[in-house]
Amino acid sequence: MNTIKKFAFAMAVSCSLAVTSSASFAQEKGTIGISLPTKTESRWMTDGQSMVAALKAKGYAADLQYADYDVPTQVNQIENMVTKGVKALVIAPIDGKTLSDVLQSASSRGIKIISYDRFITQTNKVDYYATFDNYQVGVLQAQSIVSAYEKSGAKKPWNIEIFAGSIDDNNAHKIYAGGMSVLKPYFDSGKFVLKSKQAAIEKVSVYRWDGATAQSRMDNLLSAFYSSARLDAVWAPNDAVAIGIISSLKGVGYGAPQQKMPIVTGQDAEIPNIKAIIRGDQTTTVFKDTRELASRTADIVVDSLTGKPVQVNDTKSYNNGVKIVPTYLVKPMLVDAGNWKEALVTRGRYYTEAQLK
Ligand code: BGC
Repeated sequence: MNTIKKFAFAMAVSCSLAVTSSASFAQEKGTIGISLPTKTESRWMTDGQSMVAALKAKGYAADLQYADYDVPTQVNQIENMVTKGVKALVIAPIDGKTLSDVLQSASSRGIKIISYDRFITQTNKVDYYATFDNYQVGVLQAQSIVSAYEKSGAKKPWNIEIFAGSIDDNNAHKIYAGGMSVLKPYFDSGKFVLKSKQAAIEKVSVYRWDGATAQSRMDNLLSAFYSSARLDAVWAPNDAVAIGIISSLKGVGYGAPQQKMPIVTGQDAEIPNIKAIIRGDQTTTVFKDTRELASRTADIVVDSLTGKPVQVNDTKSYNNGVKIVPTYLVKPMLVDAGNWKEALVTRGRYYTEAQLK
């Protein structure tokens, strides 16, 4: 089994969060449709399960569907939810621009529409947005590279390579902008060198955040630019991409005593990546407590349906191309070898220690 397959397999096994996608219309206050992009990363399973539980606690049923990273499937699933008469839709789009028609029809039936984690763009039919501060995710990732550089006391410039998330996901752009705001001065001053010269998001983005795609781009970069030079850090936008990068780095000998791993960042605090941090293969990840996002979203759904004031904390920044969408931003947190136990186990209670062994 190659590393990517092992990763997918580990996800499936370690994911104790299996959520059925079947609808239950038993709850008296009505049903909320939840449309999420994929099951291949365990974070989306936690998102789904937490939201179903939070809505249930408020007396609502949920119709939870995963779209298998296929836009027509996602549109179909949402159309079915609309036809079945859901009261609200909570949607993390695969491609933020593709839902205008189906949302037009949902909105004409009075269905509330909440963009979840990923931004739905190019439509005025989005009522609210709940997400993590993605710009800050990028800042935290880039700061972990900068702080490792500063701590190392390096006399020579560091060679850095950049990866970004999927180009059709607005989060990828926010993360890229946040990280670049930290890294640019280091590139400008010559402290960091980008040997590949591949910096534009179009060049460095990994379609659908796919680990195997990242692995093959890293393979190409290593053979084209690093056969005799050392690579000191790789900015990976999330954990799935980091797994592909790590696998590629190991393939050319990094991670051995005489050739230590470059700094590798990530996002999502996925179990295989926390294990990689404990082993020393990955340096940091960004923990985003999806339980909190799900519970904030359930509040938004229910308050907007019952006419209560809806809690948001950003009414200015999220312009989807047609309107500014009132947004609730949850704070992300950097996790590394020094704080994973406290952040995720003892205080965070996101995982048990046994899951990370
Ligand atoms: C999410 C990340 C996730 C990525 C791939 C992004 O929109 O914010 O948490 O890693 O999608 O699923």
